[in-house]
Amino acid sequence: MIRTVHTSALGTAALASARALLEVAFDGELTAEDWEHCLGGLHVLAYDGAELIGHAAVVQRRLLHVGRALRAGYVEGVAVRADHRRRGVASALMDEVETIIARAYDLGALGSSDDGLPFYLGRGWRAWTGQLRAFTPDGLIDTPDERGWILVFGDGLALDGDLVCGWRDGDVW
Ligand SMILES: CC(C)(COP(=O)(O)OP(=O)(O)OC[C@H]1O[C@@H](n2cnc3c(N)ncnc32)[C@H](O)[C@@H]1OP(=O)(O)O)[C@@H](O)C(=O)NCCC(=O)NCCS
Repeated sequence: MIRTVHTSALGTAALASARALLEVAFDGELTAEDWEHCLGGLHVLAYDGAELIGHAAVVQRRLLHVGRALRAGYVEGVAVRADHRRRGVASALMDEVETIIARAYDLGALGSSDDGLPFYLGRGWRAWTGQLRAFTPDGLIDTPDERGWILVFGDGLALDGDLVCGWRDGDVW
């Protein structure tokens, strides 16, 4: 079963389960900031009975592209419990996430992991090939190491152009 809930409507226990699932799925490498990046928007949750087996979050970020501050549905914290992988759970989560993006945002964007790359590319997400930059407290900086890992979803984007994100603690993209 797939359920979509705003952070504000998730109780403390459900939030703790989602965070615990991500901590295990990312092999203990989920930082406090990574978790914080999942908050304040929609959580798409997959259940096997009463057990949480998958999670994805969509939060709004502004991404500057060709002179416009696009409203991006930024996807965070996509993970499926290891014993439920390769059964279409993440596909079901992303079906919902992509519907949300298509209806509510100018584009979708995310920073992919190794595991995620073949999964997202297979769904039509595309790697940004142009310059990636970030607004920081010290001004605009290039983030070239992100190239190949920042994927977008949507039409009408010049993938070889500039894409600029705003500042946040932790990984900026
Ligand atoms: C990436 C992840 C979310 C995929 O979840 P999943 O439920 O196993 O994915 P699905 O079963 O829906 O996969 C659909 C298709 O995507 C591709 N795919 C999924 N995981 C893949 C992997 N690890 N390597 C290669 N292709 C993969 C396959 O084509 C798969 O179809 P198939 O099983 O018929 O071959 C899961 O491996 C995971 O939680 N990884 C750890 C956390 C992580 O890296 N998350 C991504 C953050 S950006």
